[in-house]
Amino acid sequence: MSGQNPLKKMMNNIPVPQQKLKEVLRVEGLTKVFDKSSQPIQALRQVDLTLYEGEMVAIMGTSGSGKSTLLHMLSAIDAPTSGKMFVFGEQRDVHLEPQATIFRRNHIGFVFQSFELLEDLNVMDNIAMPLILKGLTNKEIEILVKEALDQVGMKKWRTHLPTELSGGQQQRVAIARALIAKPSILLADEPTGALDFNTTNDILHLLVQLNKELQQTMVIVTHDAYVATFADRVLFFHDGQIVDVYTNKKDESDLEEILEKFKYIARGEQ
Ligand SMILES: Nc1ncnc2c1ncn2[C@@H]1O[C@H](COP(=O)(O)OP(=O)(O)OP(=O)(O)O)[C@@H](O)[C@H]1O
Ligand SMILES: [Mg+2]
Repeated sequence: MSGQNPLKKMMNNIPVPQQKLKEVLRVEGLTKVFDKSSQPIQALRQVDLTLYEGEMVAIMGTSGSGKSTLLHMLSAIDAPTSGKMFVFGEQRDVHLEPQATIFRRNHIGFVFQSFELLEDLNVMDNIAMPLILKGLTNKEIEILVKEALDQVGMKKWRTHLPTELSGGQQQRVAIARALIAKPSILLADEPTGALDFNTTNDILHLLVQLNKELQQTMVIVTHDAYVATFADRVLFFHDGQIVDVYTNKKDESDLEEILEKFKYIARGEQ
């Protein structure tokens, strides 16, 4: 048949409705200057970033490019020098106390490279900590901790102390603790940085599974391009700015392309 069916042609011209992505956190013009020493350091320069519900974002960049500083600003662990922050579309000033603590308790889960578990508390009590701080009842805490232990596969180890666990197991506990209060966003600063390749794989698969099952929004800072291949979006930082963004197709070519981009950013070419 020659020529195009007019109905088909008309339908082709109807714009496909884009799935509306709900924004969780947005920053505009985020700037951080550390000026305690004689030489001020500009750690973030006018960063604009929107994080959407359910996405997994990886942040890569050279050492000192501002990745951890960004996570500290997003989590209100530290305050920016200037810039705006929006929480579910509403501009909020979350960086002053007591708002900062309230914001962190309600919206943020944080995972560190060095796990940061409380040594004197067993696995269950470490995981329960955010709920204790939130003032939940013992019964509520018990139910949620049980669920979290199952999610990260650590039920068997619930009465153990952190010192009795491997690095991967400690990170599982730290992830459970970060997620127990059902945060709007999970921020992870090099969560696999202290782990070997196999354990990195285990932890990555756990994070991906939680991202999918719980639709948990996540931002993962990593030096490892392999880790970044699991993300939906990869942001590249250089000298306090996002200098490149890569949207993952999630096929075999991703690792190579991410490595290429990381290499040119590491060389300082933009
Ligand atoms: N508390 C601080 N006081 C002074 N300068 C700081 C502070 N924290 C970070 N900086 C500086 O800000 C810049 C960005 O640091 P940041 O820790 O965010 O880098 P990064 O990208 O996380 O690096 P890495 O990959 O090594 O962890 C660096 O120049 C660092 O020295
Ligand atoms: Mg860092």
